[in-house]
Amino acid sequence: MNDIKSPPDETGTSKPFSFYYNASQFRIDTWHRVKLFSEKLSTHQARKSDITKYVKQVNDALTTLNHLEDYTAFPSKEDFRYLWRLFEQDEYTALARVIGRLVRALTSDSYRRRHIDLAQNLDKDEQEDLQDLIEEEQRDASERRPYFELLVVDDLSSTEDRAIRTGFLRARRSEDRFIYSTVVVPSFEDAIIAVLFNYNIQTVLIRYGFPFRSKHDLEILKRYLSGFDEEMIEAQSDTDRSVMLGAVLHQLRPELDLYLVTDVGVEEAADRSAEHFRRVFYREMDFVEQHLSILRGVNERYQSPFFTALKEYSRQPTGVFHAMPISRGKSIIKSHWIQDMGQFYGMNIFLAETSSTSGGLDSLLQPHGPLKKAQELASRAYGSRQTFFATNGTSTCNKIVVQALARPGDIVLVDRDCHKSHHYGMVLAGAHVDYLDSYPLHDFSMYGAVPLKEIKHKLLAYKRAGKLDRVKMLLLTNCTFDGIVYNVERVMEECLAIKPDLVFLWDEAWFGFARFTPTYRQRTGMDTARRLRRRYASAEYKARYAKFKAEFDKLEPDKNDDAWLNTRLMPDCEKVRVRVYATQSTHKTLTALRQGSMIHVYDQDFRQKVEEPFMEAYMTHTSTSPNYQILASLDVGRRQVELEGFELVQKQIELAMALREELISNDLLQRHFRFLVAKDMVPAEYRPSGIERYFDPERGWMDLDEAWANDDFVVDPTRLTLYLGKTGIDGDTFKNKYLMDKFGIQINKTSRNTVLFMTNIGTTRSSVAYLIGVLRKIANEFQWKLEEMSPAERRIHEKKVQSYTVDLPPLPDFSRFHAAFASGKDSGTPEGDLRAAFFLAYDDAVCEYLRIDDGSIDKEMARGREVVSSSFVIPYPPGFPILVPGQVISNEILTFMRALDVKEIHGYRPELGLRVFTEETISGLIGEPRVKKVAAVS
Ligand SMILES: Cc1ncc(COP(=O)(O)O)c(C=O)c1O
Repeated sequence: MNDIKSPPDETGTSKPFSFYYNASQFRIDTWHRVKLFSEKLSTHQARKSDITKYVKQVNDALTTLNHLEDYTAFPSKEDFRYLWRLFEQDEYTALARVIGRLVRALTSDSYRRRHIDLAQNLDKDEQEDLQDLIEEEQRDASERRPYFELLVVDDLSSTEDRAIRTGFLRARRSEDRFIYSTVVVPSFEDAIIAVLFNYNIQTVLIRYGFPFRSKHDLEILKRYLSGFDEEMIEAQSDTDRSVMLGAVLHQLRPELDLYLVTDVGVEEAADRSAEHFRRVFYREMDFVEQHLSILRGVNERYQSPFFTALKEYSRQPTGVFHAMPISRGKSIIKSHWIQDMGQFYGMNIFLAETSSTSGGLDSLLQPHGPLKKAQELASRAYGSRQTFFATNGTSTCNKIVVQALARPGDIVLVDRDCHKSHHYGMVLAGAHVDYLDSYPLHDFSMYGAVPLKEIKHKLLAYKRAGKLDRVKMLLLTNCTFDGIVYNVERVMEECLAIKPDLVFLWDEAWFGFARFTPTYRQRTGMDTARRLRRRYASAEYKARYAKFKAEFDKLEPDKNDDAWLNTRLMPDCEKVRVRVYATQSTHKTLTALRQGSMIHVYDQDFRQKVEEPFMEAYMTHTSTSPNYQILASLDVGRRQVELEGFELVQKQIELAMALREELISNDLLQRHFRFLVAKDMVPAEYRPSGIERYFDPERGWMDLDEAWANDDFVVDPTRLTLYLGKTGIDGDTFKNKYLMDKFGIQINKTSRNTVLFMTNIGTTRSSVAYLIGVLRKIANEFQWKLEEMSPAERRIHEKKVQSYTVDLPPLPDFSRFHAAFASGKDSGTPEGDLRAAFFLAYDDAVCEYLRIDDGSIDKEMARGREVVSSSFVIPYPPGFPILVPGQVISNEILTFMRALDVKEIHGYRPELGLRVFTEETISGLIGEPRVKKVAAVS
């Protein structure tokens, strides 16, 4: 290993690499340091003895940066050589100036907007730089040409390297829509490092004849490399090695455009590389041809057909003789009373408001033009086979998918704490529901996620009962509100081994962004579906499955459920069908207007079995007046993620990590708060990696990838749960009285002793700094109060702390459906007929209210009555039901409800109590054939 360390700070201390979450954070930090050291040298502030120290520090930092800057276009290799020259010639004043400009260009991103020639404009000062930048910003955004970087992979001399960069520079034309600079790297490993480290790369041109190994040995870059078989890769022919590199890069960043340059026959190379490369070029460098292809590729991602159509439409003069007086702002402009609406929103939004589906626009219900194209592009971006836009949130998407796939009487396994839209979807579809319990996190009053064993156990019960054919779908929330993420691949594989055509609906309302970084992507529904489909079609899997089956059969699985439960199961590749749906609230985690959501489909049987009912369901739930602004935002938001999703998500994770680190390293904050870590939220049995936390104050950052590759559950680090137990304040009070009222900080979810902070792609360094500052102020206030407390106050405080840390009400499991609605009771399975209970309750005469605050309900239960809920009771947030129609109310549920600290509980009116079925109704239902009675009422 190279002995280069992180450059020291002013005090001479080096921060170990493990304390940097990623190399870009390290890069910027290092540039800031070298700026500081060079300024010290230039101003002669340093004492003579210090000069040697600073010279060494500049030298070390520049040496380290030498490694990093090989992967970026700015500063260029020539710029870098110029810095070295200034340094070696002791031109410290010039050096400090040039580095100052360079750091400004990097931090303001101005190098993306204009060419910065460090050597030529040495005398430019900060003021002039700023002026340039202001002029640049003032230019119409449409005139500005987006910037990206092209990566060329080839082992070249420095003259050839320069020739290539100049060649592409010369190919530029004034009419080009984008500008780009070129980075050349010489090996397989360097190419991987480059695409992971340099967010600006959009296009890769892979040539031939380069070696595997990188000459760089910097630990922070090596982190990007793991699991490659050097010998095998070196042994490939030049073209095969290039093709292999293409496959790896595609897996890491599927949005990149890849081009292959080969010296074998183009047809032959094209054959081998068709899957990942846009185009194959033969040998010689035809810069113009390649330049045009490169721009065309990026332009395909840049297109936003529906957004463009809407912009075009808004520019056309039209006479409106149909609905929508607001269209073209007419009803506002004419108004004497609502002019401020026009001023607030600006005219464009009204120019783009129309109910027309012609004039270049399209119909969401039967798309054939720009909306069709926009959905196809979204499908490409999100890795689905089909993608559908929705303008009423994932609440609607969930109902569409459930209705499309489940018929009345089908059994659906549903995670109990899933969003209410699924439960309503089940009611509408008439599916019979079997609720799966998540593991509870009693200490934090929140649920985890459903263990795989619980799911397998349920499926096996249906298998034994001979009802597996009726089990249609497994529905899980990934990630959960609190950020717990399933091992999607393992869940699907093992379930498919028991039921080969099981449909999966992954509610990814909070996980749309996950596609755009490789660590997260592997745990998304769409990416896993693609992997599994390929896997099951391979000869290699067939052989592995045959081996597995021979071993498994020895365990006599027909008689032995433990064999199924305790083995890592493999599906039969002859029978398995990959059928996966994911619903995403794009608006929650990516750029889209509120309610902008998508349904992604990867179902091998979609065309044959689902398309018709899916379209019926889509028609059922989709407005005939879908909001065009929402649709356009989905379209343009897709453009964004295909071009900068990787960068934005990486930065989001980086900021969330910085927030964690800040809190952990601050003694005052630690006294009152802590962020929950993986160990708190995922029990050890589900964490085979043994990784307990992602950041350790002594060792720095852990390798997330190991946990994300193998553990049953991991925690999404962009969601931060702050534990408040020690403060003696509950989550809801902290949210409202402290964060919101005093500091204007909005959060969504709380539990008795936690609040959840979510970062997103819009989170900035300054918002993170603000939050830390606020937490510090609050912690200070707590500290003072604590120190000033009288003995009596202290006792009260300690009691409160006790109630938030020790005396926490246990979280209730789903009790059960009452026999009147337990449709599976005859065969001993637990599913229930939610719809029957739901519609029965439409008749007020069969329901009554029992209060939970005056003991009425307890009295009824104490005399042995099974009290049955007639409605959904849904605390918001988090928005999942603690009672569903037909469910028996248990003491645990009552205790939990009494301890609930949220104000909004849908389906519950404290002044009336819980709405339940009357005793006569229930006994009537069990006394007589249930179905007949229920049918009569509903
Ligand atoms: C897990 C889950 N699914 C679905 C939804 C509904 O999403 P939307 O607000 O887009 O309708 C939510 C909302 O919070 C949710 O948390």
